[in-house]
Amino acid sequence: MSHFNHAANTWDSEEKISMMGELASKTREKLALSSKVDLLDVGCGTGLFSFEFIDQVKSITGIDTSEGMLEVFNNKAKGFDNIKSINIDLERDGLEMKFDLIISSMVFHHLDQPQKMLSKLASMLNEGGQIAIVDLETEDGSFHPRPKEMGVKHFGFSNEEVESWADSAKLKVSISTISTREKNGKSYAQFLAVFTR
Ligand SMILES: C[S@@+](CC[C@H](N)C(=O)[O-])C[C@H]1O[C@@H](n2cnc3c(N)ncnc32)[C@H](O)[C@@H]1O
Repeated sequence: MSHFNHAANTWDSEEKISMMGELASKTREKLALSSKVDLLDVGCGTGLFSFEFIDQVKSITGIDTSEGMLEVFNNKAKGFDNIKSINIDLERDGLEMKFDLIISSMVFHHLDQPQKMLSKLASMLNEGGQIAIVDLETEDGSFHPRPKEMGVKHFGFSNEEVESWADSAKLKVSISTISTREKNGKSYAQFLAVFTR
């Protein structure tokens, strides 16, 4: 995933900060948050998504395969004793930890086996917990300028695919379109899927 190591230092553009702020705000509306919630951000990158939750949860753990992205995340986390990161490839390795809320934004289209990942996340969820996944709805492959080089494995997902992940993980799911991104004259919808037991 060297693309993200190269991209890390310029990742937090003003456009991305504002876009992720909006996405996080719409996501928060659909979730049960409290000062008791331990949150895991899968593929946290520089933390643009999870840092938006800090005022409403107890702790944030960000995990990512990219050391470069985590370096930026860790710099932002300085001064917070309730934010930490772990450098791990969660598709290959396991994490013996449990959380009340697991979030992930724009990561599942980079995974070899998204369905297997959801089942793994389900096993890391405390009783009554929630998993919130944000990603692209099915697109024509034009969202990323150089998909292969950028580690893109899926051109978004249909509701049926997301529902089938939920079935295999024995979870319930509620899916909604939460944003539409305009890029090069095209529109790309993003979904939020909230999974519960
Ligand atoms: C498009 S970025 C999104 C970053 C962040 N979630 C955001 O929305 O700004 C995808 C991130 O997922 C990470 N990633 C991809 N596959 C992963 C895996 N198997 N385990 C952990 N992180 C992964 C990448 O390194 C990258 O930081």
